[in-house]
Amino acid sequence: MKAAAVIPSKRFIGIVQHPEPRVTLPGEVKLRMLDIGVCGTDREIARFVYGFPPDGSEYLVIGHESLGEIVETGAEVVDLHPGDLVVTTVRRPCPYERCIACRAGRQDFCYTGGFTECGINGRHGFMTEFVVEERKYMHRVPHELRDVAVLTEPLTIAEKAVSEVWEVQRRLPWNCVRQKEGAPGYCMNALVLGAGPVGLLGAMALRKAGFNTWVYSLEPASSPRSNIVKSIGGMYISSSDASIEAMSSRIGNIDVVYEATGASKLAFEVAQVLGRNAVFVFTGVPGRKQRVEINTDELMRDLVLKNQVLFGTVNASARHFDAAIADLSAFRKLWPGAVESLITGRFPLEHVSSLLTGNKQGIKSVIEVS
Ligand code: BGC
Repeated sequence: MKAAAVIPSKRFIGIVQHPEPRVTLPGEVKLRMLDIGVCGTDREIARFVYGFPPDGSEYLVIGHESLGEIVETGAEVVDLHPGDLVVTTVRRPCPYERCIACRAGRQDFCYTGGFTECGINGRHGFMTEFVVEERKYMHRVPHELRDVAVLTEPLTIAEKAVSEVWEVQRRLPWNCVRQKEGAPGYCMNALVLGAGPVGLLGAMALRKAGFNTWVYSLEPASSPRSNIVKSIGGMYISSSDASIEAMSSRIGNIDVVYEATGASKLAFEVAQVLGRNAVFVFTGVPGRKQRVEINTDELMRDLVLKNQVLFGTVNASARHFDAAIADLSAFRKLWPGAVESLITGRFPLEHVSSLLTGNKQGIKSVIEVS
């Protein structure tokens, strides 16, 4: 069968022949792959600066943002059936007994670094016709989400980040968070850096959690991305209209920053305007290895005197996939059309090489495998 793959030793990106997998264990499920999203990580893999094939394979089948339809289940799989739609998680645990995180099913916190990631690091991904995986890594998706469920995986980034923000902010027991039921963040200001898919999905998660949500990004104030932000009740500030200082004085105390650009220079500049008792979440993985000068004295002084927390988060565990699926439905009810508008192009598998190496276009491109 056909698969989109990279062969790092030959600097090849394109279609390879990959053996069609079979269900051989009772806990396995076979999927026909439907939609696979393309993201920045895939583009890094296509530049051969990130990712590696499984042991013994020359190529890596790429694709980790997936939606598949079940075509066959192993004998022990009783709660999923042919025709069901599922999203499959990306990270698999390391094999080491001493890794309490992986042994607890939280390979997103793997201590040893021996984890693998489908379509990224040491394990084939989903940009192919059929996939066989263990049932425990799959999450059922309602059929109503057929057209947007491929956004589940990128949304898990926001799900984990926002839940960790609340873990940290439990330290503020008097906060209005506790005072108004059902709208936990209603008096707090969240700033999203970047209006790509991860940023816009993060903005939706933060809005739904009740934050006053701003998005600061490169695109002009009249761009489709800024319209999406407005349609969810957020506010958009273009970096071509406002410096970081001007943006921060418009917002007031910045309680949460959700970074979704992978640009470390911007991130650390914005860290300098982080508010009191605030949290800064990094989600991007910088590719450029650029050197940035920062005033570490000022940064450290603010961390201490303003009770600030900076942390990074990598997605994601089973609970965040379930939360993301539930939130895709919720977002659709809250803001009809907004989630759908993130998917700006659908392409056949054969277009993979130009999608990964050409200029970035639109917000989210999706490969339709079948
Ligand atoms: C994926 C994560 C992965 C990360 C680093 C992201 O694009 O969504 O699952 O952990 O890349 O490899």
